[in-house]
Amino acid sequence: MTAPPRKIILDVDPGHDDAVAMMIAAVHPAVDLRAVTVVAGNQTLEKTARNALNVASAIGLTCPVAAGMSRPLVREQVIADDIHGVSGLDGPVFGEPTVALDGRHAVDLIIETLLASDGDITVVPTGPLTNVAMAMRKEPRIVERIERIVLMGGACQLGNFTPAAEFNIYADPEAAQVVFSSGRPLVMMGLDLTRQALCGPDVIGRVRKLGNPVARLFAELMEFFAATQKEVFGWEAPPLHDPTTLAWLIDPTLITTKAMHVDIELRGEHTYGRTCCDWYGVTGKAPNADVAVKLDVPRFWDFIIETLALYGREG
Ligand code: RIB
Ligand code: CA
Repeated sequence: MTAPPRKIILDVDPGHDDAVAMMIAAVHPAVDLRAVTVVAGNQTLEKTARNALNVASAIGLTCPVAAGMSRPLVREQVIADDIHGVSGLDGPVFGEPTVALDGRHAVDLIIETLLASDGDITVVPTGPLTNVAMAMRKEPRIVERIERIVLMGGACQLGNFTPAAEFNIYADPEAAQVVFSSGRPLVMMGLDLTRQALCGPDVIGRVRKLGNPVARLFAELMEFFAATQKEVFGWEAPPLHDPTTLAWLIDPTLITTKAMHVDIELRGEHTYGRTCCDWYGVTGKAPNADVAVKLDVPRFWDFIIETLALYGREG
């Protein structure tokens, strides 16, 4: 008997890889996408919200899309325009969006959705954790209503925005501290995992052959993303960070995780925003995260391509 679809709230900062996470979540039969909430991150909130509406329109999204926090909780704002461009979703040309923002603030939409649930919703953040942390602080009753948090962020080893820190955590470390100390089951797709998901020309070619508008949008997004990832990091192919969250949620056999304690560095001059991952258990602290360590790469790409094929074939 097929399990019922997993109810999720997807919190995004589109962002090229966030856009692909939206594509997967919107169409996969194993996912019941209850809400898309938008946060400032890769670009300013005005731009990430517009990008979310453009993607929502392109994929025919029917759930609410709400804009949330425009600033981190404490630190000054940082953005990743070197990777995602001036618009935050450079590459494709979009028309006017056909999807409009929900009138509610994203923090309120998260709270309302969780309070109305049976505690069976997974929260999937793929940007800075500002919206999720604010919702937890504004309405603490939601914390126990979160079935699980599956997030893209952090790293056991090298960061990407600083030598020590990954962007989503670095952009709002205090929000990450709230979320990682919430006590809820948490799965962390850090850079150690996502850097195994390199979206090369072979993958882009397989997707283009699907012959549907969403597949074409994927290819246009990845071609831009590949160029900036090569320019900034020298990657031969861009790491497709955010969709790894959906991959684990839909088919956990694609990804191996290791339970460990993760602390967020809030005071280090050179390490602010680092996820300090206690791989060997030397702190003696109980694990608070299942940290993703190994990706079944061929099956991951099969998953991505098979899911994008669900958007049909033209002609
Ligand atoms: O460090 C990678 C993460 O930062 C991804 O979620 C990307 O979209 C950016 O938000
Ligand atoms: Ca993101």
